[in-house]
Amino acid sequence: MSLGVWLAEAAQRRERAGVVRADDVRRNPQSRRGLLDLASNDYLGLADDPRVRDAAAAALDRFGTGARASRVVTGTTAGHAELEAELADLTGQPTCLAFSSGYTANIGLLTALGDPGTLIVSDAHAHASLIDGARLSRSPVAVCPHADLGALERILRERTRPRAIVVVESLYSVLGDAADLAATAELCAFHDALLVVDEAHGVGVAGRGRGAVHAAGLAGAEHVVVTATLSKALGAQGGAVLGSAALREHLVNTARTFIFDTALAPAAAAAAAQACRIVRAEPDRVAALHRVARAVADAAEIDHSPGAVQSLEVGEPAAALAAATRLFEDGVVVGCFRPPSVPDGVSRLRLVARATLDPARAAAAARRARTLAA
Ligand SMILES: Cc1ncc(COP(=O)(O)O)c(C=O)c1O
Repeated sequence: MSLGVWLAEAAQRRERAGVVRADDVRRNPQSRRGLLDLASNDYLGLADDPRVRDAAAAALDRFGTGARASRVVTGTTAGHAELEAELADLTGQPTCLAFSSGYTANIGLLTALGDPGTLIVSDAHAHASLIDGARLSRSPVAVCPHADLGALERILRERTRPRAIVVVESLYSVLGDAADLAATAELCAFHDALLVVDEAHGVGVAGRGRGAVHAAGLAGAEHVVVTATLSKALGAQGGAVLGSAALREHLVNTARTFIFDTALAPAAAAAAAQACRIVRAEPDRVAALHRVARAVADAAEIDHSPGAVQSLEVGEPAAALAAATRLFEDGVVVGCFRPPSVPDGVSRLRLVARATLDPARAAAAARRARTLAA
């Protein structure tokens, strides 16, 4: 079969299933004045903060645009060390290792820890990067129904492998709900399992910005490892793994997405380090985010989720897309999540709060979304 026919058939299947995606520049709020952005993940508005921009600009002047090599060759700069110290301090963790993205952090961690003797138990709503990391790790994988602690306990109790890694998100990226970290960590401790918590949506948001793991009193616990992204509340780019010094040393030596990947760009590292300092110094910014999130949830008539993401169920992919398109025509951009991004098959509009939004304006858009989704 020629590549043309092959791709045309795949495109037709996507069309029939209502899951066509596009990288449309017109949806970019920085390119189109007046567009209300309820879709991006810049939860604290730091991607635009002059102090964060200045930190990135200073690093550009000093180090240039790219890191030029892997961290284990010549790519490690003082900026990387500074970022790692700031993020570890913010989240209360002993050490931090920065990766070029949250995606590569998750893959690097799970492939460095997994093997055929280790069962990976992944929540059904875990992010694609965690799923890919588990698949690449050569570990057997069990998918646990979302947030089902009873099922998790059974899987851990009945496992036949000596080691186990439980993988959850602190705040889920599409549903917006929170994992019960205290209970999950207790189960893991009892069953001698490691708990990996992806705080992509928790850092800068939960626990006065210090993350849900810190808020649960689990920062520094030996059986709890945190991953994070620098690309959401921290307004930059990149990812990180946070945990013990021994874990960091293991990753520097074995995580393929750390060793065989060019280091995070120094300007992104400097921006994220500055963002960490701002999160620590300005808890009011985090409080403002939560006020906007509450206003959005109330207006959309949905249960308020504890993070920035408020998730409005629509059902069919085509209906979700139609609602998102109408909102866009009204000047509001929202996320439209459809299979395969939603493992339960329910399509959703993802309404994302931001600290710098006017709560009344965000609420008006959420009310309109509710009407269109009905
Ligand atoms: C839960 C979760 N983990 C990891 C990632 C990947 O992070 P990054 O965009 O920095 O690669 C994302 C988002 O994109 C995410 O939502």
